[in-house]
Amino acid sequence: MSQKITSLYKLVTIPFMYELIQRTLGQKKTRHYLCNGPLKTNTGDRVLDVGCGPATLRPFLGDICYKGMDLNPSHIEHATKDFGHLGTFICSNAVTDTVNAPGPYDLIYCIGLLHHLDDDEARTLINSLSARLADGGRLVTYDPVYVEKQNFIAKWLNDLDSGQNIRTAQGYANLFDDVELPLDTHVLSGMLNVPYNHCCNIVSQPK
Ligand SMILES: C[S@@+](CC[C@H](N)C(=O)[O-])C[C@H]1O[C@@H](n2cnc3c(N)ncnc32)[C@H](O)[C@@H]1O
Repeated sequence: MSQKITSLYKLVTIPFMYELIQRTLGQKKTRHYLCNGPLKTNTGDRVLDVGCGPATLRPFLGDICYKGMDLNPSHIEHATKDFGHLGTFICSNAVTDTVNAPGPYDLIYCIGLLHHLDDDEARTLINSLSARLADGGRLVTYDPVYVEKQNFIAKWLNDLDSGQNIRTAQGYANLFDDVELPLDTHVLSGMLNVPYNHCCNIVSQPK
């Protein structure tokens, strides 16, 4: 896994610091977009949150059958304390320990995960998660992205990111080459309080 692990970057592995940074950058628009769009659920949906971190979106996803997975034990401990009544949490490497959450799922999402994985890891993960979609299910990924003529603040924040694999939208789309399901890739601006761009990928399993 490609991550900068200097003392500065270690801060984001501490749940309190991670949430503070998220709050400062602004989460409301992102949350509104995701929870009312790509992550919109129906009651009883089976949902897998991969690289869940402290699972801050969980309370906004309604009455679902939720499972969160992350390889950082501190995040899993924190998420279990806050949201253990809303689902189950597994401390696991989603790329290598796939047996822990076999599925099928109506929704699988990876928010801010792909840019922490190199191409081989990301492709392995995407192929394995796509195979766990129920009929009518979808896989959603959401990550920072490099775009042409990008605002210098957005580019600077990307350059500073602890994830070493921020890609262009085409770079993210290429990771789905082996998945024989419809893919929608789009770039978003203005989801944070600072100039920033995100890339959202949605794979849909037909009903
Ligand atoms: C940028 S954070 C995003 C957290 C959360 N999804 C959110 O939106 O707040 C990326 C998360 O992915 C986790 N992660 C990175 N590689 C992973 C892997 N191979 N398996 C499971 N989790 C992973 C990290 O521990 C971290 O919590």
